[in-house]
Amino acid sequence: MYIQLISIHGLIRGENVEMGRDADTGGQVRYVLELARSLSQCPGVEAVDLCTRRIKDKRVASCYAEEIEELAPRCRLVRLPCGGARYLRKERLWPFLDDYVDALISFTRREGRVPAVVHGHYADAGYVAKEVAAAFDAPFVFTGHSLGKPKLEYLLQEGWTRQEANEVLNIEHRISVEQDCLAVADLLIVSTRHERDQQYREYQRPEDLRCEVIPPGTDLVRFFPYYEYDLPSPTIDERFKQARVRMAAELGRFHFNPTKPLILALCRPDRRKNIGALIEAFGESKELQAIANLAVFAGIRDNIEAMPDNEQKVLTDMLLAMDRYDLYGKMAIPKDHSSEFDVPELYRLAAASRGIFVNSAFIELFGLTAIEASATGLPFVATADGGPQDIVENCHSGLIVDVRDRQALTEAMLTLLTDQNVWRECSTNGVNLVREFYSWETHCARYLSCLEDLVGTPATAPVAGGRPAPGRRLASLNSLLITDIDNTLLGDDEALEQLKTIIHDHRHHMGFGVASGRALELVLEVLADHGIQEIDVIIAAVGAEIYYNQDHVLDKGWASHLRSKWHPERIREALDLLPFLHLQQEPHTQREFKISYDLEDGHDADAALAAIHNALTGAKTAYSLIFSHGTFVDILPHRASKGKAVRYLAGKWNIPLERVATAGDSGNDRDMLIGQTAGIVVGNHDPELASLRRSTTHRVYFAQAHCAGGIIEGLRHFGFVEQPETACR
Ligand code: GLC
Ligand code: MG
Repeated sequence: MYIQLISIHGLIRGENVEMGRDADTGGQVRYVLELARSLSQCPGVEAVDLCTRRIKDKRVASCYAEEIEELAPRCRLVRLPCGGARYLRKERLWPFLDDYVDALISFTRREGRVPAVVHGHYADAGYVAKEVAAAFDAPFVFTGHSLGKPKLEYLLQEGWTRQEANEVLNIEHRISVEQDCLAVADLLIVSTRHERDQQYREYQRPEDLRCEVIPPGTDLVRFFPYYEYDLPSPTIDERFKQARVRMAAELGRFHFNPTKPLILALCRPDRRKNIGALIEAFGESKELQAIANLAVFAGIRDNIEAMPDNEQKVLTDMLLAMDRYDLYGKMAIPKDHSSEFDVPELYRLAAASRGIFVNSAFIELFGLTAIEASATGLPFVATADGGPQDIVENCHSGLIVDVRDRQALTEAMLTLLTDQNVWRECSTNGVNLVREFYSWETHCARYLSCLEDLVGTPATAPVAGGRPAPGRRLASLNSLLITDIDNTLLGDDEALEQLKTIIHDHRHHMGFGVASGRALELVLEVLADHGIQEIDVIIAAVGAEIYYNQDHVLDKGWASHLRSKWHPERIREALDLLPFLHLQQEPHTQREFKISYDLEDGHDADAALAAIHNALTGAKTAYSLIFSHGTFVDILPHRASKGKAVRYLAGKWNIPLERVATAGDSGNDRDMLIGQTAGIVVGNHDPELASLRRSTTHRVYFAQAHCAGGIIEGLRHFGFVEQPETACR
């Protein structure tokens, strides 16, 4: 089984993960890294690729620009580009996701392996996974991690307007993508019952959508029990030991009496983490202050004044509360710590001091920190709202409270800090039961057993007529014929029948497509009229649109690619003024990416073309102009043409250009005939193409026969199909 996991945003790397560097580099990054590594070690798993975005930006480490990073044997981090090179926060990635879909499809094709399952993490990667899974007819697994609807609800309560939420966070778009993912997912994986029942409550879920609660595992290598340091001859990685010394020294800078039990809090500086409640509880309880020290690690900071407003507010509130309650000597607020080694050591230092971990967030969807603390033997106090419910039920390693109730919070802390029996029981349970319920082995075993049900059984997403997804089909081809329609494919009915037979007989390795100036609707009409059914690709509107198979699935990657620098209004404004051009009026001739005119009869073509270019230069817009049959003037985005569409297809589906035969008769076919493709010019071609005959750089064959007969002749010439038996009349 080859598994593709996708997690687009944030900064992901195998070593020294930069947790908490910003809002996009949090728990999800750890989750996907550990899932990928653990899955790759399971029997039956051939390989795992964790796909993310490639970033080349001076503001971040250079390793994020490497295409491939080995995470473990048979497990790679694959970084593919989308939306330029700069690091972008996740809300700004939406417009570029179709490019990512393309990049991943072509990467997959180059690697020559079709995924058994594609699993998207968070809405953005959910979208990508949904598209890639559809292309390869693989099951699509979705994990939301966090969801837009509850977030929007929260923001509205906080006084945001819907408009602000959309402008800053694109929240309604995110919600609609989440909804789309749920509509077609084959499996939804959630971490807690709370997530399944509460977070997804407001979404439409198809009745047969399978939803599994599979909590993530914990990195038990890092979160070993605190008492291992007390063993006679502990074998502990030097880096942990160094971290321990460093963290103890760091706390020593703040605490008068460092031997007291430690109350440890560790979270992002986010208002929802409700750090204030903990400081107030500590500040107002003389008893707590007498028996324990407090340490709050709220993210990593250099200069508070340079931080985003919301984080600045949380941190200054912290400092003010510390001052108000005069907690100097009792409370630590260190600026810096690393997630890799410092965090587990902090838990272990706290546990060794008989301290506790406190997470006073209003709601905790999962509660990873409570689980990690438990794994080291450090009991916790956390909110009763959300994931910690499951943790307490499974592991009995801490206490959950209503964190809005100051008294309850204080009492829970006091119970653990003063009752040795309760502390010891929670500590031992944590060490033992986290290993049972929250290990990645347990996670993977359940994950794979769900997948086994999905893989092998055909994807549940309805594929009309039982046809394979375009990706599966295209992945099985080693060559492709793309032909123009009017005066090339059509025009000689007898030869067309012969060509249809040839296409049918070679179908197992040669794909068939058309490229036309016509719009999709008109292409379909003409194909139906001539009984042509076996079609893999339709390049319509002179290359402005690409569709796949009889279901005409639109290639959204191509559309997204064309959108760059396309300003149709400027083009219309400039050209509508030219008296010798008449905007085409027939239905379907004007498209999102195609503006078409007819040149007035009898007007000098060269002069007209010069005037058009001149007008368009003045309009300051990129474009490509395609002139054909001495009368049609098509203006397309600068990246569009039949030839560019053919090259895009060859790259995306990994069919060498030399194995793509193109056939045409007129000017709008020119750029797909030239270059490395096996170009076939039919005998009845337009004079526009005559100049290609003299070209030595291109692979172009001028057929004697007309129309479909010329195509057959060309296919034989280039060896795409065998020569006929020589015994003729
Ligand atoms: C088809 C289209 C037309 C286009 C011409 C040349 O006839 O309908 O809009 O200008 O091809 O590409
Ligand atoms: Mg033609």
